[in-house]
Amino acid sequence: MASKVVDLRSDTVTKPSDAMRAAMAAAVVDDDVVGVDPTAQQFQEEMAALMGKEAALFVPSGTMGNLISVLVHCDVRGSEVILGDDSHIHVYENGGISTIGGVHPKTVRNNPDGTMDIDKIVAAIRHPDLHYPTTRLICLENTHGNCGGKCLSVEYIDKVGEIAKNHDLKLHIDGARIFNASVALGVPVDRLVKAADSVSVCLSKGLGAPVGSVIVGSKAFIDKARILRKTLGGGMRQVGVLCAAAQVAVRDTLGKLEDDHRKAKALAEGLKKIKHITVDPASVETNMVFFDITNPRISPDNLCQVLEQHNVLAMPASSKSIRFVLHYQISDSDVQYALTSVEKAIEELLK
Ligand SMILES: Cc1ncc(COP(=O)(O)O)c(C=O)c1O
Repeated sequence: MASKVVDLRSDTVTKPSDAMRAAMAAAVVDDDVVGVDPTAQQFQEEMAALMGKEAALFVPSGTMGNLISVLVHCDVRGSEVILGDDSHIHVYENGGISTIGGVHPKTVRNNPDGTMDIDKIVAAIRHPDLHYPTTRLICLENTHGNCGGKCLSVEYIDKVGEIAKNHDLKLHIDGARIFNASVALGVPVDRLVKAADSVSVCLSKGLGAPVGSVIVGSKAFIDKARILRKTLGGGMRQVGVLCAAAQVAVRDTLGKLEDDHRKAKALAEGLKKIKHITVDPASVETNMVFFDITNPRISPDNLCQVLEQHNVLAMPASSKSIRFVLHYQISDSDVQYALTSVEKAIEELLK
């Protein structure tokens, strides 16, 4: 049995590195609510430059980053946003855009590759009518979590951006894992998000920072976002402590994402050889592996429970599938150990 736990539940489970902890301890800080924390300011400037936008704002979570972004773009009552029916914003964010923001969601079906059909997006745009809310925003998700970490191509994003512009709409990207997409596609991140008016980027997923996201956009967008962040209780005082860790995460972990993707592929190839499992390694584009269990005597819950006894942690993704997520604290030997453990756990369950 591995002495350590191989934690494949998510890329949010990483523990801060020694370098991150040292940077947190040494961070020069001040009160960021009044906008004078030097580490936060520096980090935000760096992130804005990296993403090719005018300005950036550190926020406590990806959920708050998406909520603030949607609310800035939809600041008039009766606004509607077009978004994927399987998107994180629609499925996993407590309906915050409607419960808190009064924004109406108009969902379009997500294809297995994370896209929404262009003609369906166009058809979802409301024409002016006193019965309808007013479409103001389109949201994309890149990579797309519920679609297995699939990447939206730059051509697709540009096309949606063009539609948004032609209809006087804004485009927001939930880029919780935008760096995974950039690395997998081989497209610089600033080019990938060029068509977007705003992007929410998680620092605490594949990049490995302990806390936080940044939203990026125009200076006018960020000025409004800062006010909304305060309204939502997301203004934090000496937040430079967190930004210092995030700075190290961007510096040290960005270059490791490609390796996470390689390990995800290796994991999928290994799983493919195990009986009672189906997985398509070709569908693994980034750091997520979703696999189906084909034997009705094994449920994802049971398999995850037995895997836990082997010190391998994973999460069921549906009534017949499990999700493994790779991150930089999973080694090649951890991948091999996870594969052996899956094989053993299945044997145990079928005994
Ligand atoms: C695609 C996507 N968007 C947004 C979020 C929200 O991020 P947070 O958990 O920091 O609120 C997540 C979190 O898993 C996510 O996977």
